[in-house]
Amino acid sequence: MTALRATGVERTFRHASGPVPVLRGVDLEVAAGELVTLSGPSGSGKSALLAVLAGFDRADAGTVELAGEVLTSPPPWKVCALLPQALGLAGELTLAENVALPIRLGRAGGSLDRVTELLEELGVGELADRYPGEVSFGQQQRAALARAVIGEPRVLLADEPTAHLDQRTGPTAVHVLRRAADAGAAVLVATHHDEVHRAADRTLVLDRGRISVG
Ligand SMILES: Nc1ncnc2c1ncn2[C@@H]1O[C@H](COP(=O)(O)OP(=O)(O)OP(=O)(O)O)[C@@H](O)[C@H]1O
Ligand SMILES: [Mg+2]
Repeated sequence: MTALRATGVERTFRHASGPVPVLRGVDLEVAAGELVTLSGPSGSGKSALLAVLAGFDRADAGTVELAGEVLTSPPPWKVCALLPQALGLAGELTLAENVALPIRLGRAGGSLDRVTELLEELGVGELADRYPGEVSFGQQQRAALARAVIGEPRVLLADEPTAHLDQRTGPTAVHVLRRAADAGAAVLVATHHDEVHRAADRTLVLDRGRISVG
């Protein structure tokens, strides 16, 4: 079953220096249970695409369907979670509070019991009571991953989730993403890392605003 479908998605940023066309008709599908990686050079539009798919940004043309429903505004928070490239942790909340936040706001399903478990699995359990400004960027990234997966969304979008991780923590993050797919989520991961591509079922390439391989 297709859990994520984009059809003819276009996005042009209106910049003072002129229009910046980034997405020029993106078509893609990710099935429930699939882990798909999204590759493409820096600046090719991977983050722009994930933001549109998550409903954080609006396409100029085209449609996005999540779990069979056309994406609306506000987006269906419980269906889809995005781990943004810039992480987006709230600086005034501890790592544990950040991970719990989507559940506490009613924007994700899942159990608060898993907050500690997920942080421990990702190797930041001892840092649960620290604020993002008191831990490294890679440690923040692992907390942001925990926040994205805790609600067990049907569609999980992760933007370079291993960018700041090392040889020990990277594979754990990949394992958490793979497990989400194996549990039935449609998982789309923008990445430059081979270890993530190797764990994927297939790879899509974003090239000049369109999917060129997939
Ligand atoms: N608000 C904006 N206004 C104008 N141009 C923008 C804006 N946001 C992004 N862009 C441009 O859109 C293009 C795509 O950016 P995007 O961040 O999606 O790339 P990316 O593929 O995720 O790159 P990276 O691998 O470096 O993360 C870039 O050329 C960028 O400069
Ligand atoms: Mg990016």
